[in-house]
Amino acid sequence: MDKIVIAGGIPLKGEVSISGAKNAALPILAAALLAPAQHTLHNVPNLADIRTAKRLLENLGARFADGPDGLSVDTRDLTSWEAPYDLVKTMRAAVLVLGPLVARLGRARVSLPGGCAIGARPINLHLKGLEEMGVKITLQHGYVEAAVKRLEGAEIILDFPTVTGTENLLMAATLARGRTVIKNAAQEPEVADLARFLQAMGADIQGIGSDVLTVHGVKQLQSARYRIMPDRIEAGTYLAAAAITRGEVTIRQAPVEHLTAVIDKFIEAGLRLKVDQDIISVRPGGSLTGVDLKTMPYPGFPTDMQAQFMAAMALARGVSVITESIFEKRFMHISELRRLGADIVVSGNQAVVRGVKSLQGAPVMATDLRASASLILAGLGAQGQTEVHRVYHLDRGYERIENKLSALGATIWREKA
Ligand code: UD1
Repeated sequence: MDKIVIAGGIPLKGEVSISGAKNAALPILAAALLAPAQHTLHNVPNLADIRTAKRLLENLGARFADGPDGLSVDTRDLTSWEAPYDLVKTMRAAVLVLGPLVARLGRARVSLPGGCAIGARPINLHLKGLEEMGVKITLQHGYVEAAVKRLEGAEIILDFPTVTGTENLLMAATLARGRTVIKNAAQEPEVADLARFLQAMGADIQGIGSDVLTVHGVKQLQSARYRIMPDRIEAGTYLAAAAITRGEVTIRQAPVEHLTAVIDKFIEAGLRLKVDQDIISVRPGGSLTGVDLKTMPYPGFPTDMQAQFMAAMALARGVSVITESIFEKRFMHISELRRLGADIVVSGNQAVVRGVKSLQGAPVMATDLRASASLILAGLGAQGQTEVHRVYHLDRGYERIENKLSALGATIWREKA
């Protein structure tokens, strides 16, 4: 298995451009299934998760072509309604085909995702919402079997604003008979990006970006062309890289309006930065001070930035209390950060980070996508050499991370196994 090696302790300097958002591209690819047509997508990131999503759609009969004009997705002839275990187990977001398949074909068979490194992650809310729209759901042999004659609009109140749950129900509602209202909907910008793609396909959706989505079902959707939003978590990760190395970094194509909670936390911690349209410029110097944070659904501080922020706090002055309120097991990076010399104590869903003067490079093991990013950041800030093993997690969500960091002056390389 590949590993990434970092010789740390070098302040980053230069410019980096942010790629398309993984968590917007995944539901948008699934949404392409809703209309038998050829769609064109721009700014699709080149990531392992996107390759998995393409394989999943190809299994269903979709065809892809990469061209200068973007990625074309042809979903005219679907040949299957099944998302098999092999694909769902490598990427939970594969459950996003459930809503579109039921809406278009009236049936779907999707492997039940199991737990994962960061928590149990059930899909009960996806299923409950679909049942409220008239779908008959049975669980058999580890699969969700869903069948419906015609989806009916419904009023759905989510117990929790689940992101992919909201997306599955939103997609299903576009082709349902009558009106669907999704209350306590996730307000994440990626849900809004999906909704705008659905609008481009001809869907009738109101309340985009809010916690109440109202959808008037239409008979059919059409071909659409769409540009995926930039990735706010990738942008936040480079912000953390600049912070931990006390670097001078300009982040271009940053979705600044969706990064408020993250930018505010870094400013509170003492990072000096300037925001101008879609550019964030981090100025060098100044030391970071520990600050407390709690992860929350959007517009709160994103759980997907918790591990990276913690790496920065490991080298800050003073104490930070970091509370993870979304996923129950999302502290797997802590024992690895400790191997680099971080002083972090965990109690339940809270981590108390006492900043240390320096971290020392060591071999560490990545356990999930954002934990891997946190270890790369800690390695950049550490003295000496850090080896991050199991980087396939990193490749799921960061496009060319070692190239982008090298271009910023980091000494970082990948060693093939
Ligand atoms: C999405 C993101 C992921 C991010 C997460 C939270 C994608 C592809 N992934 O994941 O990067 O970390 O949002 O911002 O967009 N829950 C239930 N029942 C359900 C669904 C969720 O109990 O039916 C719980 C989960 O166990 C978890 C919480 O709700 O504790 C949030 O999960 P959810 O918002 O669904 O996360 P994902 O959509 O899986």
